[in-house]
Amino acid sequence: MQITAPAPLSCASEHAFELVLARSQLRLRVAPGESMADVLQLAGIAIDTLCEQGVCGTCVTRWLDGAPEHRDSCLSAEERRTHVAVCCARSHGPALTLDL
Ligand code: FES
Repeated sequence: MQITAPAPLSCASEHAFELVLARSQLRLRVAPGESMADVLQLAGIAIDTLCEQGVCGTCVTRWLDGAPEHRDSCLSAEERRTHVAVCCARSHGPALTLDL
């Protein structure tokens, strides 16, 4: 079975959102075209990435509040209820809280 990455979405339709880190008590802004993984790494939060396309699952992180817009191809519907691939997911709403 061949695994393929989801087609990239245009960032023209993306909106900025606030990334809330529950344990770190940090609030970070994710701009259109930026990934949560990039914003976390720039803030000094250790988050491992590999494919950066939602395929490998390396960056999968537990989310606590909000409405993730999943764009990965590695998580099941069940897993998406509690986890998100921060390399490619965004937020449907104005904020998304992660267990970091
Ligand atoms: Fe591979 Fe996010 S780095 S799924």
